[in-house]
Amino acid sequence: MPQNTLTITDNRTGQTYTIPIEDGTIRAMNLRQIKTGPEDFGLMTYDPAFMNTASCRSSITYIDGDQGILRYRGYPIEVLAERCTFLEVAYLLLFGELPTEPQLKNWVHDITHHTMLHESTKKFMEGFRYDGHPMGMFVSTVAALSTVYPDARHVHDASNRLLQIQRLIGKVPSIAAMSYRHNVGFPYVYPDNDLNYAENFMNMLWKMVEPKYVANPAIARALDILFILHADHEQNCGTNAMRSVSSAQTDPYLSMASAASALAGPLHGGANEEVLKMLDEIGSKDKVPAYIQKVKEGHFKLMGFGHRIYKNYDPRAKIIRWCAEQVFEVTGRNPKLEIALELERIALEDDYFVKRKLYPNVDFYSGIMYQAMGFRPEMFTVLFAIPRTAGWLAQWQELITDPEQKIARPRQVYTGHGAREFVPLEKRTSAALAAG
Ligand code: CMC
Repeated sequence: MPQNTLTITDNRTGQTYTIPIEDGTIRAMNLRQIKTGPEDFGLMTYDPAFMNTASCRSSITYIDGDQGILRYRGYPIEVLAERCTFLEVAYLLLFGELPTEPQLKNWVHDITHHTMLHESTKKFMEGFRYDGHPMGMFVSTVAALSTVYPDARHVHDASNRLLQIQRLIGKVPSIAAMSYRHNVGFPYVYPDNDLNYAENFMNMLWKMVEPKYVANPAIARALDILFILHADHEQNCGTNAMRSVSSAQTDPYLSMASAASALAGPLHGGANEEVLKMLDEIGSKDKVPAYIQKVKEGHFKLMGFGHRIYKNYDPRAKIIRWCAEQVFEVTGRNPKLEIALELERIALEDDYFVKRKLYPNVDFYSGIMYQAMGFRPEMFTVLFAIPRTAGWLAQWQELITDPEQKIARPRQVYTGHGAREFVPLEKRTSAALAAG
């Protein structure tokens, strides 16, 4: 018997099956042969929320949740955050290798020359309510780009894909900045090609009447590091949406709009905004123990804590804490930091959190830092979506070029009625329907 196999005995029939194990997995389709008789559909797995199902092979991002390790294409996140720019990391995610100097120069040039939005986007943006959530504006505007670039539907053409990738990475900061300026009622600012990716984003957000926007270099670098930390995170809810939707060969604008919609949820990228609301609600350091008690009683969750994969300190949260200190040197300390530190201190000692391996995640400190930089909480998830664009697109490319992938279509365990007798409208009563 080959060693890398699994032997299953079906106690319903007494039959034994031997199934290969590859990369620590068995193929769910290999279970289909396990039947009680010719009429039986065959065995399936039941895995709500994909708790133990690999949906793809990927060589982009590696996470070891128990050890708190995150690597892009084999490089530890700590090294990339310290030594690279976001666009360098985006290149790494998309092409599998760090760029050489000339490659990086071309890449930066290509992205920089795709930052402009079609003028009609302004009109589209003006249609949103003045106080519309920027994430709703972001999602809809990304989707609307599908109407501007109908060529994007040729998803099997590699050079066409590259063009859409450059467009999307180039344009997401412009859309994000527009949504912010729409909220505050300021005129939109055009991109400035002399500035780097983060600086140009700051320019489009905050330029007022000065002829040339000058970004604070410490803030620009902190923002760029945050972009690196958020660039990819393997098969999370948003990325799964990206893969699932684009498996239907939908164009990348529409697919990415669905990925960003998933990200908007409070259990996903929306958590950073929720952390700020939570810190506001707690109000002061002395109220932390009472708040923790309520979390333990199950009234609500501690936002910015816990993760499906990390059962250790999220490595990104560690870098963000360091980054926040650099930002506070420029902006002054955000008073909410005291409450956050106290929450973390108590939670990390408390049996409830220790037993469940609940540690601060990426969203716990990012909001405090964003707020100190001058962002409103509503913008936080948009700030997450900008760099995640690189990850979504890398995952999209991988999916499209993977010969094993097909349209994503899970199975279900049907729990509804068997075939029923139809009851005509005039005879319908609850009793008649129940009897039917
Ligand atoms: N506060 C209090 N209890 C928690 C928390 C929390 N933040 N997170 C999980 N638990 C408890 C949960 O109630 C459960 O307890 P019990 O075993 O007694 O029922 C146990 O820990 C296991 O939790 P789970 O809900 O089965 O874990 P999950 O993997 O389904 O959920 C999560 C992961 C991130 C959705 C969850 O931890 C959570 O809701 N956290 C707060 C929201 C948040 O910070 N989200 C950002 C995630 S990181 C960035 C991103 O993904 O975008």
